Amino acid sequence: MNIALGVGGGIAAYKAAELARLLEERGFVVQVLMTEAAQQFVRPLTFAALTGRKVITDLFASAGGEETLSSAVEHIRVAQDNQMLIVAPATADLLARFAHGLASDFLTTLYLAFTGTVVLAPAMNTNMWRHPATQANLETLRRRGHHIVEPEEGHLACGMTGPGRLAQPERIAAIASAAAVQLRDLEGERIVVTAGPTEEPIDPVRFISNRSSGKMGYSLAQAAAARGADVVLVSGPVTLPDPYGVTVLRVRTASDMRQAVMEHLKDASIIVKAAAVADYHVANVASRKLKKTAMRLSLELDPTVDILAEVGQKKGDRLLIGFAAETENLVAEARRKMETKNCDMVVGNLVGTDGTGFEADQNEVTLVVRTGDVIKLPRATKLEVANWIFDHALKLRLALHAAQ
Ligand code: PMT
Repeated sequence: MNIALGVGGGIAAYKAAELARLLEERGFVVQVLMTEAAQQFVRPLTFAALTGRKVITDLFASAGGEETLSSAVEHIRVAQDNQMLIVAPATADLLARFAHGLASDFLTTLYLAFTGTVVLAPAMNTNMWRHPATQANLETLRRRGHHIVEPEEGHLACGMTGPGRLAQPERIAAIASAAAVQLRDLEGERIVVTAGPTEEPIDPVRFISNRSSGKMGYSLAQAAAARGADVVLVSGPVTLPDPYGVTVLRVRTASDMRQAVMEHLKDASIIVKAAAVADYHVANVASRKLKKTAMRLSLELDPTVDILAEVGQKKGDRLLIGFAAETENLVAEARRKMETKNCDMVVGNLVGTDGTGFEADQNEVTLVVRTGDVIKLPRATKLEVANWIFDHALKLRLALHAAQ
């Protein structure tokens, strides 16, 4: 596979030389391109020696250095010739220019012309990393399905200690290799994902809901779309913007969610139910706002339709992945749900613990799989967890087909 390695102008630029070597070692063909600022830290000759290829350093100068008409469209050729673009170090300035589509040099022009897999490894001062502008740019880039290799915490060249140090080249190379394997491996799949809470009205003003932010489901939709799937995301009320390249159906109640899921079930090959669907709805929804009194207010609640169980009854040879949000007995409860709802896999996650589950940016899940396996995955970003879930789902489907 051909990789374009963009080197940004940060003190960590020297580490990109090691990354180039590691990528070449893994059998990738690496074309290096450097921003003007990067050349202040490392000479292009270093990369040329490591990769055996001339380094592109200027928007209108081809790798050979002469300015010709062909070099003026060199970025299109590089965009077409490479399946992956890695940018390391990705400075705050580069992230901002990528996020906003500015094309003022070769690397940013290439980025706009590029349609393959993008891996960004940020590196910058801790305050710059934490700045809302940088974090907003990162969120934009994540939503486009780009892989972000989180910087490490530690002592920085500027003397500060904290997050912002470029991830180790080995980790960047490993993530790039994993992304290369995942490339478009969900092409042709039609995946229905549910996400977020549902809202069950009490009266025109009040409702019952839960703390689901939708991040887990949106990450699943984003990961699947980035790997080539045709994704329909049925989402309860959340504040997240639509993931890149995903059809989003926004619903409110469990009943609405069930209807949307059933409408798209027939075409689906994989269904992933990450939504925190309300288990109960108010039996008699008031048509007018209930007036406050000094008396206790009791509500009669009826069970909602169990969408997962209903899909389980109708799934056919589709792959059905459910979730289990538990505070204890995670594996046993996940296994029970897998059996009673006819799931092929249940993703168990402990909720109520800090840093994972509802609203958190990370999750730590255990997969209970129909083949009998129980796979405990490490804590990671919800996007990484989402990709692992699909990795195991594809393996599971192969195992189930082989067992037939
Ligand atoms: O959205 P985030 O803030 O990122 O949080 C992620 C999450 C914690 C919500 C997610 O990881 C998760 O655990 N989702 C499932 C939450 C849930 O409702 O779990 P449960 O054990 O109550 O439900 C089991 C399964 O049945 C789930 O797949 C659920 O979608 C499904 N279900 C539940 C009730 C119902 N009426 N219909 C359903 O389909």
